[in-house]
Amino acid sequence: MALTGSSKTLALLKNNQAALQNAASRASSWWSHVEMGPPDAIFGVSEAFKKDTNPLKMNLGVGAYRDDSGKPFVLPSVRKAEELILSKHMDHEYSPIIGNPDFGKAAINLALGEGNEFVANGLNATSQAISGTGALRIGSSFFGKFWGGAKEIYVPSPTWGNHVPIFKHAGVDVKTYRYYDKTTCGFDFAGAMDDIKNMPSGSLIMLHACAHNPTGVDPKDEQWNEMSHLIKEKGHFPFFDMAYQGFASGSVDADAHAVRRFLADGHSICLAQSFAKNMGLYGQRAGAFSFICSDKDEAARVMSQMKILIRPMYSNPPIHGARIVNTVLNTPELKEMWLVDVKGMADRIISMRTLLQEGLAKEGSNKDWSHITDQIGMFCFTGMTPDQVDNITAKHSVYLTRDGRISVAGITSSNVGHLAMAIHDVTK
Ligand SMILES: Cc1ncc(COP(=O)(O)O)c(C=O)c1O
Repeated sequence: MALTGSSKTLALLKNNQAALQNAASRASSWWSHVEMGPPDAIFGVSEAFKKDTNPLKMNLGVGAYRDDSGKPFVLPSVRKAEELILSKHMDHEYSPIIGNPDFGKAAINLALGEGNEFVANGLNATSQAISGTGALRIGSSFFGKFWGGAKEIYVPSPTWGNHVPIFKHAGVDVKTYRYYDKTTCGFDFAGAMDDIKNMPSGSLIMLHACAHNPTGVDPKDEQWNEMSHLIKEKGHFPFFDMAYQGFASGSVDADAHAVRRFLADGHSICLAQSFAKNMGLYGQRAGAFSFICSDKDEAARVMSQMKILIRPMYSNPPIHGARIVNTVLNTPELKEMWLVDVKGMADRIISMRTLLQEGLAKEGSNKDWSHITDQIGMFCFTGMTPDQVDNITAKHSVYLTRDGRISVAGITSSNVGHLAMAIHDVTK
């Protein structure tokens, strides 16, 4: 029977009502007990920034490099690698569980140095990873399953916020050792050494290889050497997180000092690497995870278990980012170009630190801001209190996390003056 206009409307209304009732009963029956979680601290800052209409607003929350006009930066070496890849009309087949083996070799050689004895002797078990976070996930799962000691890791206080949930997810408890000294805004070397000495022998310890996040505070080379000796003496296992190789000093070799020192001192280590920052491949998720083992046979056994852990996690990694890294690192002209690109980014960050410090002096601040240039890498722990952070955001539209951390990579020569004025205003 054909429906008239008004009975059609009635039927539609009934359908809508039934759909709403179904949706309501679905919502109350299954997930009504799930509470709203808090927003991520860093992505939450970006959300608030987006809503601000002040033309002078600055987002110093997220750790992504910007060029001097505040724009995302695609490295010229990476662009060239992409063109090369495109011209080869490559396929999109699955990669092996541990990813592209050439990429893996290039990544670990970058960390340990070309021609290093560890790779030459087959002591590394290296897998491609879903950037640095994915590398940490592989590592934490491995420790969750195979670590013979207490299932706990000592991380610096403070550390990158994601370290804690990553290890907890794998059933590894997280403890801290002293690292940042609030009074100097620098490294608490004595405190760190004391805590390392007092950890139970054979503990698992997380070390940021360079450009410590969130503080920007790194041990000096001599301090690393002393830490290496003490960690060896205590029989601890060093877990290096290297998310910023090249980004700290501008030299990929200088930034690998700690990792190479520990290996030269006879440690077995593991290492999480990320190409997000030093190749600007944030969204491509290119990283690597390695163990450096005592012999070839151990490396093979460890590798086999890493594969068994990865397979049910994500089966195998994405291919494009690793192809880019592989092309850059294994094409001599592109590698040369890349080293210049990395240095350019590091140098720009270092010059922004100097400009900010000078700007604060020009504003008339009589506080000691020497830590701005003493710290290194993408971040600066300004020493601003949570109240001062709330103020600088509310009054001057400067966005950062409440721990007072700013991403120096987000400062430009045209907004550094606004930032200096704003910091002075809320800290005077
Ligand atoms: C210390 C540290 N580790 C690991 C990562 C992982 O980054 P991604 O997963 O983007 O490579 C970061 C990123 O900010 C970091 O700061």
